[in-house]
Amino acid sequence: MIHRFSIEAFPQSKETEAALAALTNEREFAKAKLTVHFGGMSRAAKHYVDNPSPQFIIVEENGTSDDIHRGLEALADVVEPGRKVIVIGAVNDVQAYRRLINEGVSEYLVGPASTADIAAAIVSCVKDASSAPKGRVISFIGSRGGVGSSTLAVNTAWTLASLNREEVIGIDFDFNFGTMALALNLDPKQPVFEALTEADRIDPVLVERFMTEHGSHLSVLSTSGSTRELSEPSIEAVERLIEICRSMAQYVVVDLPRHWSGWVSSVLLLSDEIVVTANPDLANLRDAKLLFDWLRGRRGGAINRLVLNKADIAKRNQLSAKDFRDTLDIAPSLTIGFDPTLFAQLANNGQTLGEGAKSHRLNEQLRQFAQQMGGKKGSIARQAPPKLLGWLKRPAKTK
Ligand SMILES: Nc1ncnc2c1ncn2[C@@H]1O[C@H](COP(=O)(O)OP(=O)(O)OP(=O)(O)O)[C@@H](O)[C@H]1O
Ligand SMILES: [Mg+2]
Repeated sequence: MIHRFSIEAFPQSKETEAALAALTNEREFAKAKLTVHFGGMSRAAKHYVDNPSPQFIIVEENGTSDDIHRGLEALADVVEPGRKVIVIGAVNDVQAYRRLINEGVSEYLVGPASTADIAAAIVSCVKDASSAPKGRVISFIGSRGGVGSSTLAVNTAWTLASLNREEVIGIDFDFNFGTMALALNLDPKQPVFEALTEADRIDPVLVERFMTEHGSHLSVLSTSGSTRELSEPSIEAVERLIEICRSMAQYVVVDLPRHWSGWVSSVLLLSDEIVVTANPDLANLRDAKLLFDWLRGRRGGAINRLVLNKADIAKRNQLSAKDFRDTLDIAPSLTIGFDPTLFAQLANNGQTLGEGAKSHRLNEQLRQFAQQMGGKKGSIARQAPPKLLGWLKRPAKTK
């Protein structure tokens, strides 16, 4: 299996640094995003004060087990929840190993660690999809049909992939008439619906077979269009597909059809963020209100966003951003004007805004919009700081 994880490593010795640097030469890790910063655990703790956390953090600390413990405490204060931490150290005793695993470290390696040891440690953290690091699921839905939700989804997916060069998987759940592949000028290998026929069969290898790549960081599961009469997919299969995708990439961008059914609502419930796109008319306002009321009633503090698209489509009679804010109690995260020439040109060329209109000012707005996602510092998800090592905790195991 090809791993697309983001990995940051903080070696303290030249040997470990060399072993880490060679990781992406391993076939399985050729697509991983690896960054190596020399300086061990103390450098890592300083680094994450100002930087977002990758899926895997590998730290080396060659001092005593108390030094490792202190380093982990400092890390726990600054690293975002759900990340895997692998420690490389000089301490070689079972008690120390147990203590570290109890504290939530995913793997402990006694140095010097070879490239193969490091690769094996990462793989062992993800043997079981449920324990793999989880990418963020961002679902896009229109308050009504045709509002521009898919256009926004594909442009956000592209922007996320190019912004930090992190892996993004786009899933187009409009099984018959989805345009995610078309919008990126791709020819899907197999329609995503076929991946959903048996929930138990869905695993990373199957997902790879259905994915079509766009550049080096964005892959999509979509359709080339079909009039086949399809039955509703099972909730179990849809949830499993998303679960596998989020174990393979930092972001999963889900394009939902404007269609209300059990599986659509279950995707909304499992998403980390939901982006509701609306156009400025009364029917959109009513349906956006229905959606936000439903989401707020069921999703506690999860992040819901509103995007007002085609905002100036009917200058005289349209509703304003203020009307939406007052009724929905949420300010638009992004407001996009009506520009049929631009969007028709991009759609017809199979290009995103960043590809076909690089200097358009909407690119910067999209970058800021994408930057708010990801539970990074300053975003809503960061407001509750992780408890000391609580984010790493899992049951003890013995070696
Ligand atoms: N700001 C905009 N200005 C002008 N046209 C736009 C704008 N945003 C999107 N469009 C166009 O609106 C049409 C519908 O967009 P899109 O398919 O993204 O909407 P949707 O909400 O996903 O629709 P559906 O309900 O079919 O899934 C497309 O032709 C797209 O190019
Ligand atoms: Mg759509």
